[in-house]
Amino acid sequence: MNTIIYKIDPNDLDMTKIKEAGQIIADGGLVGFPTETVYGLGADAMDASASAKIYAAKGRPSDNPLIVHIADLASLTDVAVDIPEAAYKLARRFWPGPLTMILNKSSRVPLGTTGGLATVAVRMPSDPVALALIKASGTYIAAPSGNISGRPSPTLAEHMIEDMSGKIEMILDGGKVGIGLESTIVDLTGPVPMILRPGYITKAMLEDVLGEVTVDAAILEENADKNFRPKAPGMKYKHYAPKGDLTVVEGEPQKVIEMINHLTGQCQERGQRAAVIATEEDLEKYQCQQVFCIGTRAHEETIAANLFDILRKMDDMGIDVIYSESFYNGGLGQAIMNRLLKAAGHQVIDADTGAHKNCL
Ligand code: TXA
Ligand code: MG
Repeated sequence: MNTIIYKIDPNDLDMTKIKEAGQIIADGGLVGFPTETVYGLGADAMDASASAKIYAAKGRPSDNPLIVHIADLASLTDVAVDIPEAAYKLARRFWPGPLTMILNKSSRVPLGTTGGLATVAVRMPSDPVALALIKASGTYIAAPSGNISGRPSPTLAEHMIEDMSGKIEMILDGGKVGIGLESTIVDLTGPVPMILRPGYITKAMLEDVLGEVTVDAAILEENADKNFRPKAPGMKYKHYAPKGDLTVVEGEPQKVIEMINHLTGQCQERGQRAAVIATEEDLEKYQCQQVFCIGTRAHEETIAANLFDILRKMDDMGIDVIYSESFYNGGLGQAIMNRLLKAAGHQVIDADTGAHKNCL
């Protein structure tokens, strides 16, 4: 298949191209498109055979449900039923934006879109290209992240092209996404709202609107060795694993630098290609030849925005061993560390004691 690639300026939408993309969705085809979180791989959410194409293109297990993207609040009642007041409160505060809600699905949404579940994940993205595409399609768009299953989510059109070129009808190139981590998922079908995947919208932000909010115990790092079953099926997969062996080094900052220098020195002696993921503040302190700047600790958003691109670059360069600083502080830290520790298969070294903690 020849994949059409259109550049779209989010601030000056070319409606002819957007309409063409919308028609592809309406006709049951696949379109890669930018959202504010990551690029999505879109198909008609209300057509099970269109959703099935998404699973095939990604190589994704069919029990892993898709997020249904809507463009206005009135559409919520088309895709969900028994909608609690909490959903409207969250929608008023955070939609359009990087928040996905789990609700009971309406009969109109096919089980092929929800991986056989009676619930549905719904999000109204804020990216102007995404919103215009949903409207132009005349339907709702099921879209997982646009990567091949097991690769980092795409944060640039180049990543989408790399993973999906030749497999889908069209890719809309809206440039680099703003956030760079997938949306926060909150389940509103239980007695207390529960975070199933951390993201840009933090627990504190949700609590500010809803009061008590819990976190799925299965996604807490302290339970990583317990084999709990995550409520979001996709969270059980070891996502984003780079080809190189990634370890996160945590502890007192100076000790982290010393430990990473020691470890990369050992790699060099063994003839392995090593790389370091570090913040701008520490770049100069590493002796390793390959040091990737992930952003600045002064603005955690920069760290989130660069993480997936750096993991892809490591693969392209054939890096054997990767050591990363850890990024716990601040509100976004939880989402960043959730993705980074998953990519590392939960391999952590404590720089203060030298202890290896491999939870799994
Ligand atoms: O930011 C995002 O959410 C991006 C953009 C494209 O919107 N999409 C995205 O989709 O990350 P995906 O498919 O890569 O991740 C969706 C996650 C998966 O872990 C899936 O298991 C979970 O949402 N999910 C979907 N429907 C669910 C449901 N009914 N109940 C529980 N988890 C659900
Ligand atoms: Mg994904």
